[in-house]
Amino acid sequence: MAISKSMAVAMNKSSWIRKMFEEGARLKTLRGAENIYDFTLGNPSGEPPAVVRQRLRELAADPSLGAHRYMPNAGLPLVRARVAEYLASQGGGAFTENHVIMTVGAGGGLNVVIKALCDPGDEVLVVAPYFAEYIFYASNHSAELKVARTDEKFRLALGRIEDAIGPKTRILLLNSPNNPTGAVYDEGSLREVGEILERKSKEHGRPIYLVMDEPYRKLVYDEIQVPNIFSMVRRAIAVTSHSKDLNLPGERIGYIAIGPQNDDSAAMFDAMTMANRILGFVNAPALQQRLVGPLQGTPAEMTVYRENRMILTEGLQQAGYDLVPPQGGFYLFPKSPIEDDVKFTGMLQERNTLVVPGSGFGAPGHFRIAFCVEPDVCRRALPAFAEAMQAAK
Ligand SMILES: Cc1ncc(COP(=O)(O)O)c(C=O)c1O
Repeated sequence: MAISKSMAVAMNKSSWIRKMFEEGARLKTLRGAENIYDFTLGNPSGEPPAVVRQRLRELAADPSLGAHRYMPNAGLPLVRARVAEYLASQGGGAFTENHVIMTVGAGGGLNVVIKALCDPGDEVLVVAPYFAEYIFYASNHSAELKVARTDEKFRLALGRIEDAIGPKTRILLLNSPNNPTGAVYDEGSLREVGEILERKSKEHGRPIYLVMDEPYRKLVYDEIQVPNIFSMVRRAIAVTSHSKDLNLPGERIGYIAIGPQNDDSAAMFDAMTMANRILGFVNAPALQQRLVGPLQGTPAEMTVYRENRMILTEGLQQAGYDLVPPQGGFYLFPKSPIEDDVKFTGMLQERNTLVVPGSGFGAPGHFRIAFCVEPDVCRRALPAFAEAMQAAK
């Protein structure tokens, strides 16, 4: 075979999400799309807000020359300045354009951060359940993924995090609001995380960074506030995108924010700028940068997600499922009524309902529902969830 062994292994392990998505495509052809309830992908069914279309029209009509050329690899200075202004206005501290790097989505941004901070063999610590792609992002840069479990309500288990940090740990990578659990990590826990990182950095004689993966930051329920890590953790970096808050996942636009409190923020900025270039991104797409620069304060449209969250949490709890209602994002992560989550997703699939086994997120015994779909799909799927629960008893 001509492909590399490492890719063959990666493809073999490759995400349950894709496998289920492909199975969904097959079933839709077989049984008709309207008869399949597909909760596999975090691909928002909503459209970008009207202001996005408006701004795209204005940008297309802009007569200035050179708008599509190469640029500084960190991104357009004016756009970075707009992002920095927004971050400062949110209480993040003295952000300037030299703390912001525009990236090809959060996925691109996370790869840039790991490339810039990790030597081969360095460790990236995550908490399970975690976003499945982290395994690949770490191994892209010969870093090792280490895992600490959260508690049963998906809150940070600080003792486990502390115990899992060793002499090779370079990054603690947290995602809040979380995919797949919907957990938002509270201020008290994040403060303690900051203290742990200070202690452990001193103990091991090298800095350990908190990297917050925040593409769902604006997607929250019930007045929940997502704490601002920059005011609590000195060595903090945030990575985000507009895939979910502006419904633009196909446009691949996001950014890295390097906390101004980092003593080495200038060196990190240079390293990440270089990483952006040599990973082949070169720079984030010019048009998309111009598009999102002035839209930083645009809120996420939550009406459909709120409705879906209500339909599913109430409906599933009535059917007997054990779940923690999500505080943010658009995922639910109920317990599987039988231990074997892969088998249970098969039982749902027999009932035309597609979800992803928790095993794909380092958390067997659960399954993930991505509810970024039309409310009618959630409503119509409830009998299938109830039947599968009965069959599992
Ligand atoms: C937790 C998490 N991080 C990162 C990403 C990647 O997002 P992007 O589309 O911005 O690359 C996703 C996408 O689903 C995600 O759920």
